[in-house]
Amino acid sequence: MKINFLNLIELPKDIQMQCRNWRNSPNVTQYFIIKYIDEQVHINWLKSLKENAPKNIAFTIKADEDFIGMTYLKNIDYDLKTAEIGIYIHKIDMINKGIGSKALNFIINFSKNKFNDLTIQCFDENIKAVYLYQKIGFQFIEKVNDKISKYRLQLN
Ligand SMILES: CC(C)(COP(=O)(O)OP(=O)(O)OC[C@H]1O[C@@H](n2cnc3c(N)ncnc32)[C@H](O)[C@@H]1OP(=O)(O)O)[C@@H](O)C(=O)NCCC(=O)NCCS
Repeated sequence: MKINFLNLIELPKDIQMQCRNWRNSPNVTQYFIIKYIDEQVHINWLKSLKENAPKNIAFTIKADEDFIGMTYLKNIDYDLKTAEIGIYIHKIDMINKGIGSKALNFIINFSKNKFNDLTIQCFDENIKAVYLYQKIGFQFIEKVNDKISKYRLQLN
């Protein structure tokens, strides 16, 4: 299986609009604080990807001919050189095949020489994701609340 990471803003408009449904699928939203992205919020997010020095940068995860998920940076701070990572695979039959690891390594490599450190927030009950982040080198920093923790990977 060939895995590719494609910048969302370089893809056709229909794919850009379609990815809202990926993010809204139940197998993804159960692991996210925001459970539903409405169309206007999505359009605003797409616009933010196209700004100069964007606060958000998103890459689709493509397995052979199928779009199966997304990995992205948000809350980018160009002064502090920090960003937060997001990731999901919405196609259930594509999880646990090592693709999440590849996607994280891709976004980390993309971030090198651009940012000093990356953070990620995760529900504590999302044991697989917590395991994966720590395996890649993220370290626990703090509890965000009783259900969510924050992890950091120092790049430079
Ligand atoms: C989290 C997610 C991106 C991981 O991607 P993935 O392709 O499934 O992950 P990988 O296959 O690369 O790696 C999973 C690792 O967790 C391990 N794992 C699987 N189930 C596990 C469990 N219940 N407990 C601990 N580890 C587990 C696997 O063995 C594998 O580790 P290994 O490489 O050492 O064998 C993906 O499952 C997903 O999109 N989940 C839904 C959305 C989500 O949770 N996003 C993150 C929000 S913070």
